[in-house]
Amino acid sequence: MNISKFVAPEIIFGRGSLSQLGESAVRIGASKVFLVSDNDVIKAGWVDQAVHYLHAAGLETEIFSSLTTNPKDFEVIEGVVRYKEARCDGIVAVGGGSPTDVAKAIAILAANGGKLQDYEGINKITIPLPPMVIAPSTAGAGSEVSQFAIIVDTVRKLKMSIISKSLVPDIAIVDPELVTTMDTKLAAATGIDAFTHGIESYVSLAATPLTDIHALKAIQLSSQNLRRAVADRRDMEANTNMSMASLTAGLAFSNAILGATHAMTHQVDGLIDQHHGETNASILPHVMEFNLLACPDRFRDIAIAMGEDVAGLDINAAAVRSIEAVKQLIADIGLAKGLADIGLKEEFIPLLSQNAMKDACIVTNPRSAIGLKEEFIPLLSQNAMKDACIVTNPRSASQEEIEAIYRKAM
Ligand SMILES: [Fe+2]
Repeated sequence: MNISKFVAPEIIFGRGSLSQLGESAVRIGASKVFLVSDNDVIKAGWVDQAVHYLHAAGLETEIFSSLTTNPKDFEVIEGVVRYKEARCDGIVAVGGGSPTDVAKAIAILAANGGKLQDYEGINKITIPLPPMVIAPSTAGAGSEVSQFAIIVDTVRKLKMSIISKSLVPDIAIVDPELVTTMDTKLAAATGIDAFTHGIESYVSLAATPLTDIHALKAIQLSSQNLRRAVADRRDMEANTNMSMASLTAGLAFSNAILGATHAMTHQVDGLIDQHHGETNASILPHVMEFNLLACPDRFRDIAIAMGEDVAGLDINAAAVRSIEAVKQLIADIGLAKGLADIGLKEEFIPLLSQNAMKDACIVTNPRSAIGLKEEFIPLLSQNAMKDACIVTNPRSASQEEIEAIYRKAM
């Protein structure tokens, strides 16, 4: 019997829908809300608005906002302490992927105890989590609907993938007004993340007809609107369509999981603290080239969804068009040309050295390049092979093959 499952939260979508936040939090049974956000979202005024709606609904609030670009394990631990001290009974996140994933991770530890590493992988959470409402302020991560929380293990210097149905929030409030305060760079990086979710979930081994619908819609919407959203941050139609792209991509990847691109970017993001979307942009076309052989028909569908004219082309030529179109999109929105463009800071060297001690190949391959150094490739590849997202990549990959893709992405 072929059984497929699809999980999704209640979704409230539309301009001005943040106004539903108070009523939503009441409906899921919260009386004192732990509101997770970050300083940029506070500066943009969205947290004030969220607090206003929560107070208007008769709820108490406790704000937690000491977060950085990539969500980190120690931030979660601090959050759990604050959540318990404040005696909260519900969690709201207003922000991008970082506050959202920290909120989910706080929920895991508040209910289940232990440490985050205990829940790494698939379906390790056993005790139900506090009720959660999530309102994204970026159009990219899709975490508002997903069963994923991706947290940096700052000791191992990699991103842990925690995947469980328990992590699907109760309610997702997707208000496109919130994404208007992203700057151009963030709009490009988060947008390409949503787009990558669409591509990876469409070619995933765990894809189903239910995920395909959402994945193709995300690819189509991103192709048609991301350039516009980057070119003019005031373009409300493009912003709204990118919010929908992020939402549909989130529904797709939450249920189909991802692939080698994310398995690889999780390692780089843990090593170098820059935006996940930039890492995706560097790696995605190379993983697509690698995966082409496994499912050319799916890549032809992607080319068509991106608006490429494939009439008269054989299946492989049509499939290749998807890669060319992706490279053009990434170039047009001005993201990093490769991993070497992503700066590697000296303060990471002690930790990198500690990890490098586990792999003799790194020690024997010194090279003084700017950016991501080639000697780290074996370690990144080794960790990528353990990432939950590698399981659903459409072409089985050896560590040597992952290494070869990292090298091409430099
Ligand atoms: Fe992602």
